[in-house]
Amino acid sequence: MTDINAIEKALYSYLPSDAVYEKKLTESMKYSLEAGGKRIRPTLTLAFASLLGADEEVAMPFACAVEMIHTYSLIHDDLPCMDDDDMRRGKPSNHKVFGEDIALLAGDALQSLAFEIMTLDSTAEKAGYETCCKCVNILSRYCGAVGMVGGQVIDLAFENKKASLEIISEMDRKKTGGLIKAACLMGCAVGNASSEEFLAAEKYAENIGLAFQIVDDILDVTSTEQELGKPIGSDADNNKSNYVTELGIEECQRLADKLTCEALEALNVFSGDTSFLASLAQKLARRKN
Ligand code: IPE
Ligand code: IPE
Ligand code: MG
Ligand code: MG
Ligand code: MG
Repeated sequence: MTDINAIEKALYSYLPSDAVYEKKLTESMKYSLEAGGKRIRPTLTLAFASLLGADEEVAMPFACAVEMIHTYSLIHDDLPCMDDDDMRRGKPSNHKVFGEDIALLAGDALQSLAFEIMTLDSTAEKAGYETCCKCVNILSRYCGAVGMVGGQVIDLAFENKKASLEIISEMDRKKTGGLIKAACLMGCAVGNASSEEFLAAEKYAENIGLAFQIVDDILDVTSTEQELGKPIGSDADNNKSNYVTELGIEECQRLADKLTCEALEALNVFSGDTSFLASLAQKLARRKN
């Protein structure tokens, strides 16, 4: 199974050179992309592609694309007009270093770069134009108004306001589940999955996606800034409604474990070796950062 180094090497290879883009913008994009992070979403794309027998090399541009969109979402999420957080991935947030204007534009540019790399000739030569097009469709859908961006809007709408569990679930499924689902489904597209396999991957992704945000909300209360690489107590400071405020820590951990069991069940549809995806789901539900 792939290691993070291979993902990072590919990711950095796509960064524009200073000669092409304005220097401060390029530095800002590079700063957040190279700051680390767990690289969960690209790992999921590669894992589904590999489960279905596709080469890692073919899946890599799509894996990088979802990580670029995720990194852009984090840069924007930290802006003063959103969560107003000063630390990310163990370093000062992008806007603290480059200013709000460049941080906003670096996020925008990472988004367009994601779509550019999925449609490069070098990508299509390996994956075929049909797969490229399918992946563009998947990622654009789940990063936009009915996915990550839509979820972020629900998140902002319920600051200082009590949200029902139904609303919180919808918010989490979109703002966090969206990109996790896109990551898994793009791996399926690269691996030419059957419709039954697509549905199973969707079920796996929906369950781990919701569990992932629930654990993120738990860690915001229980962890330390050093361990997380981002501020703790941000949700309370912004008066957010989330599963933890509604159910408490213990019930939330139980829920994350239950969702993880459902994710594991979905993997039964695949005939290949699903042990990596199973243990990844389990690790994510009990992660410490
Ligand atoms: C943080 O995502 C934002 C959420 C969707 C909860 P990650 O926890 O995957 O962040 P990185 O990529 O490891 O920094
Ligand atoms: C973020 O949720 C979801 C995104 C789409 C970025 P959070 O606001 O809880 O993420 P963190 O805790 O800042 O990483
Ligand atoms: Mg947020
Ligand atoms: Mg945040
Ligand atoms: Mg959080």
